[in-house]
Amino acid sequence: MAHPALSPDHTAVVTGGASGIGLAAALRFADLGMNVCVADADEARLRETRARLTAVAKGGEAAIMTVKVDVSRRNDVIDLEQAVRTRFGAVDVLMNNAGIQPGSRMLADDNWQRILGVNLWGIIHGSQVFAPNMIAQGRPALIINTGSKQGITTPPGDPAYNVSKAGVKAFTEALQHELRNMADCKVTAHLFIPGFVFTPLTANGRLEKPAAAWTPEQTVDFMLERVQAGDFYVLCPDNDVPRALDERRILWAAGDIVENRPPLSR
Ligand code: NAI
Repeated sequence: MAHPALSPDHTAVVTGGASGIGLAAALRFADLGMNVCVADADEARLRETRARLTAVAKGGEAAIMTVKVDVSRRNDVIDLEQAVRTRFGAVDVLMNNAGIQPGSRMLADDNWQRILGVNLWGIIHGSQVFAPNMIAQGRPALIINTGSKQGITTPPGDPAYNVSKAGVKAFTEALQHELRNMADCKVTAHLFIPGFVFTPLTANGRLEKPAAAWTPEQTVDFMLERVQAGDFYVLCPDNDVPRALDERRILWAAGDIVENRPPLSR
């Protein structure tokens, strides 16, 4: 376990952590022995998540916290930060991951507010509200923002989602810049771009998982490897993402590397 923020007794907060990629990350953090707080808008999923996390957490129930939060509402995120801090003290990892993709049309305002509210404002709220105390802690800490390749390639079909994720990329780059230029700051920000992962968000009524997709667990293992290695941009393997980011700072993993990857232990 290379990165000091990912240490037993440290604390991770995962928004949108009651499903898919966020849930896989929360389980992984609990498995590492960390305290975990899952913040999600879905109460039923939160109840199930609490039971699953408690089953793997080294510290049992005492190490797990679940909070109903709408990340598009700044006051919810302020309350979340205070609640986590009261319960666990410091926050070492913040994964701003909550996201929705209900569909949108270019020349209509349906869903635009909601998509930008959750996907972009959620990440801005999380970063702005948590960062000051994470910086003041004076020890290494991570902010991981979940973007999407659609924020880079902007394919036709779902303009509001593309715009929200392009915003996540731009915001995270601005945050990286700010943190790097801050004296004695041990917090780093990372843009995490999953490839295609079969989750409730992407299932769209499909019952079978497509053969080519990674599981959420594989995706999260890959993300943690790259974050531990110090990558600021974590692009999960995907063949059609252009080399649009600064190549010195990203890991480029082509499809053939994925196929040759040894089986994951989890
Ligand atoms: P998911 O639908 O399985 O999980 C998203 C979670 O976010 C759900 O538990 C949901 O209740 C929660 N959520 C929704 N609105 C919320 C709000 N306002 N406040 C708090 N929580 C809220 O989705 P998945 O696939 O795990 O996606 C996670 C992130 O990864 C999203 O940001 C998504 O855009 C991004 N992503 C996913 C990809 C994929 O292939 N699955 C590809 C690229 C990016």
